[in-house]
Amino acid sequence: MDDKKRNLSEKRWRPDTLISQRKSEHLQIVADHDVAHCGNTLLDNIHLLHQALPELDSDEIDLSLEFFSKKINAPFIITSMTGGAEFAREMNCSFANSAQKEGVAFAVGSQRVMLHHPEVASDFTVRQHIPDGVLLGNIGAVQLSEYPPEVIARLVESIEADGICVHLNVAQELMQKEGHRHFRGLLDKIAYLVDYLEGRVLVKETGAGMSPEMLGKLSSIGVSYIDVSGSGGTSFTKVEMHRAPDMDLRRLAETFADWGVPTAVSVIGARRIFKDRACLVASGGIATGLDAARAIAAGADMVGFARPALYAFLKKGTDGVTALIKCFKQELKTAMLLTGSKNVTALQRATRVYTGELHQWLSAYGWLDEGKQ
Ligand SMILES: Cc1cc2nc3c(=O)[nH]c(=O)nc-3n(C[C@H](O)[C@H](O)[C@H](O)COP(=O)(O)O)c2cc1C
Repeated sequence: MDDKKRNLSEKRWRPDTLISQRKSEHLQIVADHDVAHCGNTLLDNIHLLHQALPELDSDEIDLSLEFFSKKINAPFIITSMTGGAEFAREMNCSFANSAQKEGVAFAVGSQRVMLHHPEVASDFTVRQHIPDGVLLGNIGAVQLSEYPPEVIARLVESIEADGICVHLNVAQELMQKEGHRHFRGLLDKIAYLVDYLEGRVLVKETGAGMSPEMLGKLSSIGVSYIDVSGSGGTSFTKVEMHRAPDMDLRRLAETFADWGVPTAVSVIGARRIFKDRACLVASGGIATGLDAARAIAAGADMVGFARPALYAFLKKGTDGVTALIKCFKQELKTAMLLTGSKNVTALQRATRVYTGELHQWLSAYGWLDEGKQ
């Protein structure tokens, strides 16, 4: 075990609340175990065509775009992970610092713990580390049944965030002994919050992706920021498998370890359904800037990553996270030059070929007019 991982293992987590304890266990499990989804993002079934005469110079490539009404330098977001545990403040400060340095966005982990234990607010108040950038809060959709939008709005204000991510995690909840079992009425609650916060809401999955049916529902209520968080990256059913208190739950989690809609399928579906009515983030198993380029060519505006940022932090702290973002940028820029794409919009129009399993998914949905097959 390297130093940071040992450090994390030896850290005394705040033992005061069940939510903090669960958060800590998640971090610990992701640090110590293989929690990669058994399946694939299918991003490697997206082939960007090499342009030997790109008619572009390296320094012409522009990665910038607008996100939550702010200009950011590159289409990346470090997606939600933590808060409510001792090590969490250090991590959130580190992510915020790197995001500020590199001009990318950052979202804190679930703020649910703040609703029960306001004393942990400092884990989430990292605005001073990302004064100019996009900072987002986070809450579970299931919490919207328990708390009115005014309370959720206060969570956003309390950390001076630009908006809030609402996460969907039905698969994960079902693998938890203490998890929620009631999921009726959540779409209406999300719609109400979107209205209340005047659109400053990003609806995200947590690694199980989004089907066209589900994306259609989100489109019908006017959500304008989506993170598909598809399968192929971190598997939360696998994470829960490692904390299952009994054999039955362990078996259930094992059975569903490869559950979900792959990231590539989720993104292509989202773009078809939303057309230009939403800003789409592709996350779930983004491992390189080339993955990012493929996801953008398939329809994403932005790309997100969680576990790679956690590993970078555990290895080398803020420097590690900053280096990871630099590396993603460099790889994305290279793919853009090689496809003759001057900016993100041009990359979205780059010629691509869909093959293999992705081709089969698109065929099943009757989407074979996508790209060139
Ligand atoms: C340790 C850990 C904790 C996470 N906690 C949250 C959370 O509190 N809220 C949330 O919306 N997503 C959470 N996620 C999910 C991520 O934001 C992301 O959607 C998912 O891990 C897929 O991305 P990845 O494959 O890059 O890890 C967490 C992920 C990890 C690895």
